[in-house]
Amino acid sequence: MDFKVKDPALSEEGVKAIRWAESRMPVLMEVKREFTRERPLKDVRVGACLHVTKETGALMRTLKAGGAEVALCGSNPLSTQDPVAAALAREDVKVYAWRGQTAEEYYECIRLTLEQDPMVTLDDGADLVTTLHREGGGRLNAVYGGTEETTTGVIRLRALSTQGVLKYPIIAVNDAQSKSLFDNPLGTGQSALDGVIRATNILIAGKEVVVAGYGRVGSGIAERAKGLGAKVTVVECDPIKALKAAMSGYRVTCMDEAASYGDLFITATGDVNVIRGRHFQAMKDGAILANAGHFDVEISKPELKSISLKVERVSPCVEAYTLKDGRRLYLLAEGRLVNLACGEGHPSDVMDLSFALQALSVRYIVENRGRLPVGVLEVPAEIDRRVACLKLSTMGVKLEALTDEQRRYLSSWELGTV
Ligand code: NAI
Repeated sequence: MDFKVKDPALSEEGVKAIRWAESRMPVLMEVKREFTRERPLKDVRVGACLHVTKETGALMRTLKAGGAEVALCGSNPLSTQDPVAAALAREDVKVYAWRGQTAEEYYECIRLTLEQDPMVTLDDGADLVTTLHREGGGRLNAVYGGTEETTTGVIRLRALSTQGVLKYPIIAVNDAQSKSLFDNPLGTGQSALDGVIRATNILIAGKEVVVAGYGRVGSGIAERAKGLGAKVTVVECDPIKALKAAMSGYRVTCMDEAASYGDLFITATGDVNVIRGRHFQAMKDGAILANAGHFDVEISKPELKSISLKVERVSPCVEAYTLKDGRRLYLLAEGRLVNLACGEGHPSDVMDLSFALQALSVRYIVENRGRLPVGVLEVPAEIDRRVACLKLSTMGVKLEALTDEQRRYLSSWELGTV
């Protein structure tokens, strides 16, 4: 009985949720069948720090089918789906996660996961890896390699690597094409708005929606908000991204200007204090603030609190901050990932890609242990392509096959203007 979850009695509900996810994840299930046959992870201890969702449940079951011993903690204090955690505990996953953790409990669960001496780490945001590097000591020697799921985690790992602190190879699953072209824009685009709608039930049509960051995630959110009829403004600091947003038909301006007219603000930058004191001061009464970036630092909660007379919870995911002049600003999910804290996270259909990449990357690490350079590595191109091809085949999509002549032409220089 090595687990810490909210309520083991929720397991039946969790099993049903994981089964539903699996029914929408045909690529991961193909990998699972392969793992069951070949057992490539036999006796490998895996330590994972991921959002404990039904899709993560499907990934954990896949790793177990490959022979791994799995320990799992949550990668956000508010994102754990308690029934899923209970179901995994029943299936012999050492799971340490529940929704509504304090920061201390969150790190305690990371430490419990590390106490299982993982040989492979799976991380989403790099809290597991940074804790291991700070406190792990000799434990680091047992680790073959790891994977990282999100942009913010990859940024932190690159910083660790640049400073010469990173001690083992980590594959940046986030940066694979079959992840970042789909999960980030389509998964977060849909689920962030779903989270806002579940939390507030506001009508998006006609609203002034301000999206901060027009990267992979922000561009997806802007597109979905536009599709729902919002008037979308993009706030960007990168000239190329800002130009792309402007030429895609969005109003593009700075936060100082957008703050005064936005009805709904969604941050997706991976940056800190993107919406802060003077922006709150300029906002309309009733403005709603949500974050889709990895950490709860994009909307400055300390500054919001410092200018507020009182904070009241109006519903499970919504807090009202009353400013000194009586205006009320509404913060969703305490500024944490709105799609996971107010909704269920990305649809299983898109996590199918991300988690098939995760499973195959874990296999690659195990099969190449001792041979990979220490640093942040790319997902091997053949894994990326294979996942895309498998997904296409499950969707019944046919690829055009190049003729020999076309293949020759595309790799030649001789033929020019005719
Ligand atoms: P990205 O690097 O593609 O885009 C970030 C964009 O924000 C860049 O264009 C950058 O120029 C812009 N930016 C940075 N600071 C800014 C500021 N102060 N004001 C305006 N724009 C600013 O990164 P990506 O992949 O879009 O990820 C963004 C965040 O979302 C990360 O924290 C990532 O970990 C997280 N993420 C969250 C998911 C979720 O489920 N909610 C899923 C995937 C990623």
